Amino acid sequence: MAAIQTTALTKRYGETLAVDELDLSIPAGTVYGFLGPNGAGKTTTMRMLTGLARPTSGSGAVAGVDVTDRDGLRPHIGYLPEEPPLYEQATGYEQLEYVAGLRGMADDATRDRIDRLLGELDLADDAATRIADYSKGMRQKVAYVQAVLHDPDVVFLDEPTSGLDPRAARTIREMIRGLADSGTTVFLSTHILPVVEAVADEVGILYDGRLVAEDAPDALARRAEAGATGTLEDAFLDLTATDPAADASAEATDG
Ligand SMILES: Nc1ncnc2c1ncn2[C@@H]1O[C@H](COP(=O)(O)OP(=O)(O)OP(=O)(O)O)[C@@H](O)[C@H]1O
Ligand SMILES: [Mg+2]
Repeated sequence: MAAIQTTALTKRYGETLAVDELDLSIPAGTVYGFLGPNGAGKTTTMRMLTGLARPTSGSGAVAGVDVTDRDGLRPHIGYLPEEPPLYEQATGYEQLEYVAGLRGMADDATRDRIDRLLGELDLADDAATRIADYSKGMRQKVAYVQAVLHDPDVVFLDEPTSGLDPRAARTIREMIRGLADSGTTVFLSTHILPVVEAVADEVGILYDGRLVAEDAPDALARRAEAGATGTLEDAFLDLTATDPAADASAEATDG
């Protein structure tokens, strides 16, 4: 059974077709990099896969649970949203303790886990500071810990390294690999292509709501116009070109 499975998963907002008949089949333990230009439908897909947005049509299951079963999904998934909602008046530690309590994990082992994760992300010294006084990166770290705290089967990370300094970004990359090595499936979107090159087993490129390519990152790079020297960035730009003239000139230079 795939950890993430969708069939013709579609989301329409009025006239906008945000996600157009998406078919995914992602095995457990995979790090899946979900790429695409602004507005391609990445966040909308994640919101459907986490039960927050109802598909207009098609179907999907995460960890074997139907994506319309929000309560059923909850114990199996973690989600780092694009703009994580946090309790401004709480300290970082209180926020995490509160969420652990909601998940029935208010125990010493969980407190140890929170301490360890905050330490690894260099946030231990600020754990007792109010979130209202946090920087963007500090908020992002708390939100990341919140997403993985309950050791979910499948973790959805929308721009996980957004706002992070290079050291913290590297720590998160290592944590993502560690999650996958222990069997967790990680579905992440980012515009920072080196993150994907470093951690992803498989990459899907979404363009205008449609999956236009899916392959290992190095294989995608080789497919690019520049051939053997192509990069993932070349492949991305080729596959998501909006300017018809650019497409035509790319074709003209192919042979
Ligand atoms: N709640 C909503 N109501 C109406 N339209 C929406 C809504 N959410 C998303 N859309 C539209 O759906 C399309 C996909 O948006 P989405 O946020 O999924 O893109 P994205 O790939 O996450 O982009 P980005 O890289 O900028 O985060 C866009 O055209 C957007 O305007
Ligand atoms: Mg988005």
